[in-house]
Amino acid sequence: MNDKVTIVGIAGGTASGKTTIVRMIKEKFGDDIVVISHDSYYKAHNDLSYEDRSRLNYDHPEAFDTALMIEDIKKLKNNEAIDMPVYDYTIHNRSDATVHIVPKKLIIIEGFMILENKELRDLMDIKVFVETDADERLLRRIRRDMVERARSIDSILTQYIETVKPMHEQFVEPSKKYADIIIPRGGENITGITILEEHLKHMMD
Ligand code: ADP
Ligand code: C5P
Repeated sequence: MNDKVTIVGIAGGTASGKTTIVRMIKEKFGDDIVVISHDSYYKAHNDLSYEDRSRLNYDHPEAFDTALMIEDIKKLKNNEAIDMPVYDYTIHNRSDATVHIVPKKLIIIEGFMILENKELRDLMDIKVFVETDADERLLRRIRRDMVERARSIDSILTQYIETVKPMHEQFVEPSKKYADIIIPRGGENITGITILEEHLKHMMD
């Protein structure tokens, strides 16, 4: 039973270093942490073919089942376990698996669109935005998506120009104003991350 639950949101553009920073915080807090990724709540599209799914806009708020994510976060806050969906980027669809998550003292909500939704934002005790230059993010995304998400260079570049960049400008960049802390340069910024970790320790006391 956790008497007090602290919820931290970690936002930032695609490939800005959110996952890297979450990994670093996890190393510090170990068993006290649960990580809920917005991407796990991408809507399922079992009625569409792979070709049709690959053409969807995955950078719009409507791509996510954020209502289900909010429901699950509220359950964790109330000390109830959840079965979190699992998303498979290689097939552009939700997988059949789920992950059983038990409540912990610190909940990290991670995702590029999490500060855009007011109800979700209002659940957070502290809001962080990871800021990395767009050209670095694109370079990192190309490498990651080819290696980890089974994408071709052409598909990555087309998607970036048609949806990722315009949606970033429309939804992600403006949501930065809701952040309490901005961490420039992502996972390289050891000082910024250490200050965040110290603050989280203090909040959890
Ligand atoms: P996000 O979760 O914001 O999409 P990640 O932390 O997963 O970002 O980083 C995106 C990609 O960039 C990953 O492949 C990661 O290994 C790589 N990466 C992250 N930080 C750095 C860095 N400082 N220098 C080089 N590559 C990095
Ligand atoms: O980890 P990151 O924040 O980069 O993950 C979000 C990105 O995943 C979005 O920019 C979206 O374009 C991409 N995505 C994708 N294919 C999917 C689902 C999400 O390329 N099927």
